[in-house]
Amino acid sequence: MQVLTALAERFRRQRSFEGIRISACLHVTAETANLALALQAGGAQVSLCGSNPLSTQDDVVAALKRRKIAVFAKRGVDNRIYYQHIRACLGHPPAGGPQLTVDDGADLVTYLHTKARSLLKHVWGGTEETTTGVIRLKAMAKAKKLEYPVVAVNSALTKHLFDNRYGTGQSTIDAIMRATNILLAGKVIVVAGYGWCGRGVAMRAKGMGARVVVAEVDSTRALEALMDGYEVMPLSKVARVGEVFVTTTGNRDVVTGAHFKQMKDGAILVNAGHFDVEIDVAALRKMALGVVVIRDNLEEFTLQGNKKLYLVAEGRLANLGAAEGHPAAVMDMSFANQALSLEYLVKNHSQLKPVVYDVPQEIDREVARLKLKSLGVRIDSLTPRQKKYLASWQGGT
Ligand code: ADE
Repeated sequence: MQVLTALAERFRRQRSFEGIRISACLHVTAETANLALALQAGGAQVSLCGSNPLSTQDDVVAALKRRKIAVFAKRGVDNRIYYQHIRACLGHPPAGGPQLTVDDGADLVTYLHTKARSLLKHVWGGTEETTTGVIRLKAMAKAKKLEYPVVAVNSALTKHLFDNRYGTGQSTIDAIMRATNILLAGKVIVVAGYGWCGRGVAMRAKGMGARVVVAEVDSTRALEALMDGYEVMPLSKVARVGEVFVTTTGNRDVVTGAHFKQMKDGAILVNAGHFDVEIDVAALRKMALGVVVIRDNLEEFTLQGNKKLYLVAEGRLANLGAAEGHPAAVMDMSFANQALSLEYLVKNHSQLKPVVYDVPQEIDREVARLKLKSLGVRIDSLTPRQKKYLASWQGGT
């Protein structure tokens, strides 16, 4: 994570976060550890909790505790402990709540606005990592319930074009392979949702030789999927032919009991969306005559007629539940946007309103510049004559 490392060195020199309390609710992975340490290097007091019950890497928790980061996370916690961890993360250190929050999915911000309101007075601003969290926060802002400014890190091109597309694309395929060890070549893989994550999963599945079918509700995206070379069909039609179903919609009730009834024996169910609401796991459990864990992160459901369906990582986001999330090279850009957006909030929070802001373009461009530099890639620049041409209107045919 060379970009983040370079930023950490600058933060250390400039003491960019001196004495600032930051509570972060993120997937506790090795990449997140680097973000926490970069903020700590700038003088922040960082506390961290998990943003999903199944994504915490326990070895990372142990390592961070040794580095004086207050971590409240454990893989496999239930909902009660999950929220206990959020509460503890907000309350640490005891002398006042956070001045900055970092969220992935908006559970921490929601908790702060509903169950820990007394801490709101300390907060200057926050950042949000993911599409789902941004949707929740925009709904909060629209209802005038958001009480401090939040920067939507997901809005940066250097985040969603790479993290959502190449990160989710690769790590979801990685999760399917680790959990099932199936051959993807020749398989019918159904991708529900053709946002940046869906585009990435479809692209990588195609690259592995799968026959990809996209299910979408948005006409423009469906058209794009078609012209990108995929078959496009409603889920109700493709349910009976699909062999692997991957949800990337960010919405609930995408794959339901009606689909399970139609599915072929052996179909595999994978969710790559933030919350475990896309596949109706409760309906599947109810329909099942028996459930057996047959491999790590893989449950086999026996339905009527001895039909078997397989569920990866309990229907939670598979790329972090059954694999290790996105590789460091892509999280480098996402977390550089996080770090620079937090620095931006430190400098500008008093001028901001309690709404959701895009990442400033200068930050996005700077992350791209630093990433290219770290990769040793050089690019051209415009001549003064070209700049002038682009700023003029007189010269036509
Ligand atoms: N989200 C997706 N992949 C991640 C990773 N490796 N670390 C933190 N958050 C992530």
